[in-house]
Amino acid sequence: MARDGAVYACQSCGAVQTRWSGQCPACGAWNTLVEELQSRPPGALKPSKAARGLAFQGLEDTTPAPPRISTGVEEFDRVCGGGVVPGSAILLGGDPGVGKSTLLMQVAANAARRGARCAYISGEEAVEQVRGRAQRMGLADAPVKLAAETSLRIIVDGLKREPFDLVVIDSIQTLWSDAHEAGPGSVTQVRAATGELVRLAKKQGVAIILVGHVTKDGAIAGPRVIEHMVDAVLAFEGERGYPFRILRGAKNRFGATDEIGVFEMGDLGLSEVKNPSALFLNTAGERAAGASVFAGIEGSRPVLVEFQALVAPSAYGTPRRAVVGWDSGRLAMVLAVLEARCGLGFGDRDVYLNVAGGLRITEPAADLAAAAALASSALDEALPQDCVVFGEISLSGEVRPVSRMDSRLKEAAKLGFRRALGPADGDGGSMGYVGVGRLAEAVRRIGEAAWD
Ligand code: TYD
Ligand code: MG
Repeated sequence: MARDGAVYACQSCGAVQTRWSGQCPACGAWNTLVEELQSRPPGALKPSKAARGLAFQGLEDTTPAPPRISTGVEEFDRVCGGGVVPGSAILLGGDPGVGKSTLLMQVAANAARRGARCAYISGEEAVEQVRGRAQRMGLADAPVKLAAETSLRIIVDGLKREPFDLVVIDSIQTLWSDAHEAGPGSVTQVRAATGELVRLAKKQGVAIILVGHVTKDGAIAGPRVIEHMVDAVLAFEGERGYPFRILRGAKNRFGATDEIGVFEMGDLGLSEVKNPSALFLNTAGERAAGASVFAGIEGSRPVLVEFQALVAPSAYGTPRRAVVGWDSGRLAMVLAVLEARCGLGFGDRDVYLNVAGGLRITEPAADLAAAAALASSALDEALPQDCVVFGEISLSGEVRPVSRMDSRLKEAAKLGFRRALGPADGDGGSMGYVGVGRLAEAVRRIGEAAWD
């Protein structure tokens, strides 16, 4: 029996249980239930005394929306839907060390240089550390107000007293509110702090950006428990060993979510990559067997990336499947279709698939490019150097049409590609176009090097 007021909150999904168990019944994660004291026992909500009526309004709105704050970091603005909306709360999630503090310092500094009143409140680093990094990045002249604070009450009081346009809180997991007994970083604290800051943002018209560390071990509450409370959720991603960082919109009440921003981490912080289409392309040397160039779309922009596959005899009983930058379930599906519909066998072979440059591809249109790389490696026959590939593959082995073929082909032509392998009935324009209705046909062409 739980003590009075004690509940057990899953630090991964935020579900609250009245008794402890080793596995969260809601999300299935292990060892994530942690006892948290409720400030008020459930069911003891006092009835509201205020007899304010419910005020309805029409759909038509005549009050103009306040202008968005342009931060001057274009890639960031675009992912936000064209600048930051005043009075909104944005959550920026990402692995520790990926560059969240660096990005937001640059955002705050650039916005401040353009006249926005900006504050950067760090609960993780001392002011000297934050300032030192900003100076190294050449941002010392920007009029950003710095503070190191973890007490929610002091932060909220401070922000009520002094008006700001943009406030960065780094990170939400370090804040604590004295109204709750649970420790900093617990679901209760993280939720309480977020709730209070979101209310403050709406009331004061200040845009608040919260940093949330993504945690895998559940020692502190992950950003998922507050995703529903904020207006936008952005994810900052990067593969270890690559300088590229991708900013992705996961939720946005004020814009599209398929937009990405591309940055490169260097000695002077992050620099924007305004034209990423050729960034993930391996341009050095001949294209070997096992490589294919995917003409993809990331958000509103076409991006060309290279898929690299290696199919090799397996030395062990269980063949290995390893994939970087693509979904492993999707790889299993494409391998199964290649086996069942195209006569290629992978049962006794190791399969490795890699997306060059550290990008993560989620578009179904990449199926054919992945399949082409796999078939090319399995058959040891290289694709033409000047060929791009796109198309979705169905379980029956059909190659399905994809969206925005025109932009894909145009970008490929711009970068010097002269040929495209894609779904049947496509029109390559000035490019040589090889349309295939079925995956087997693409595999046959790769095996016979039949391209003309
Ligand atoms: P940081 O922004 O502190 O990450 P987060 O806030 O997401 O935990 O970035 C940390 C990494 O970025 C660190 O490994 C060093 C690297 N970095 C650079 O390479 N160049 C720079 O100019 C800066 C400021 C950081
Ligand atoms: Mg940080």
